[in-house]
Amino acid sequence: MPIDIPMAAKKIKIAIDGPAASGKSTTARAVARRLDYLYIDSGAMYRAVTLAALEAGVPTTDETRVAELAGTLEITFGRNNEATEIYLDGTDVSAAIRAPRIVAHINPVAANSRVRQILVAKQQSLGKSGGVVMDGRDITTVVFPDAELKVYMQASAEERARRRVAELSVKDIAADFDEVLASIEQRDRADLTRIHGPLKQAPDAIVIDTTALTIAEQVEKIYRLARDIIERKD
Ligand code: CDP
Repeated sequence: MPIDIPMAAKKIKIAIDGPAASGKSTTARAVARRLDYLYIDSGAMYRAVTLAALEAGVPTTDETRVAELAGTLEITFGRNNEATEIYLDGTDVSAAIRAPRIVAHINPVAANSRVRQILVAKQQSLGKSGGVVMDGRDITTVVFPDAELKVYMQASAEERARRRVAELSVKDIAADFDEVLASIEQRDRADLTRIHGPLKQAPDAIVIDTTALTIAEQVEKIYRLARDIIERKD
């Protein structure tokens, strides 16, 4: 007699890491939608702490004060199926965290080990029962090293800059390709070289180079991998 496995037991964790503008968020969100899973954009949490510090007049380089502030913040997500909906102490900051000034001040926040501890704990608690797709820089290595599916998405810096410019142009924001490329390369350096939670490939992550792939192709690839694992788990 086959034993009925409760649906909850079949829900896996999918961890996706990769550099800035590699298409992680769009892909991760679409995979979550297809699987009816929760999508968590971990980068939005680092952005939210950066915004809170700027609003409180705390320099993001002041490690102690930024960590203290991060410990007091209530960061929650709303419905994430179309775009990340994130709240800071009850206020919708989904648009505010995308402002260019956030990225200009985010590196010291992402390098702050106490901030990382606080955010990693929140991320682990959000995903603890599975049925989650989470993307970021350290999800496959630090947050969910036990994830059933780990993916490392990469694309050339030029292709990522092209995508970012196109993304901004949809929002009617004019952007200079060379400036966007320089900012992406600068963020890559910061992400790869920080001591705590740097971007790196987990040894058991599946590497997907998206330079020549469409979003639909990326989604399909990860969805298939996930279905295989879920079916084997059944
Ligand atoms: O969307 P984009 O790739 O530009 O960046 P993001 O995913 O929103 O992340 C914003 C910043 O937060 C990145 O530059 C990372 O330095 C940092 N981050 C991190 O340190 N750890 C994570 N798990 C996710 C993002």
